[in-house]
Amino acid sequence: MTLDIVQLGHPVLRERCRPVETVDADLRKLVDDMIETMYAAQGVGLAAPQVGVPLRLAVVDVAHDPECISFLKVNGEEADLADHMPLVFLNPELEFGERKESDTEGCLSIHDVRAEVKRPASIRAKLPQLDGSVLELETDGLLARAIQHETDHLNGVLFIDRISPAAKVRLKRKLKRLAAGG
Ligand code: NI
Repeated sequence: MTLDIVQLGHPVLRERCRPVETVDADLRKLVDDMIETMYAAQGVGLAAPQVGVPLRLAVVDVAHDPECISFLKVNGEEADLADHMPLVFLNPELEFGERKESDTEGCLSIHDVRAEVKRPASIRAKLPQLDGSVLELETDGLLARAIQHETDHLNGVLFIDRISPAAKVRLKRKLKRLAAGG
């Protein structure tokens, strides 16, 4: 079942989400619906608050472009991107590489707005899974960016908070209009 995606201006997008403590049938159903919703909206990631649920839970899938990363290590070993997509994670913990990189981002909760965002180019992430295991993942490129973008959502942070002052000025009226619901 696809879910409605909450849009800019809704307070749930600004919440610091609660950790997931139990994985039950309802949570698994939510995850399935989030994946379906992400695909239907042609997004590369979706966080629970974007469907109105303030929990530390997100899904990511960047498998449409195998060239979008230059490396992937899972639990210390080189891994295939396709084997780990869609990626579902709870309560993520991220460490950031020093080098930063700019790339264009958008968000399913901020219609028609795309802007350059500078972020750490690589991450090391501890990503607890639905089955209780923990994926230790190291990567760069779009996957690192998507995991950071989704993890930001879990802290009430949106990509528009991270754009340059010039881009903020350029987008100010549009964002105001979107936040007002029109
Ligand atoms: Ni987003």
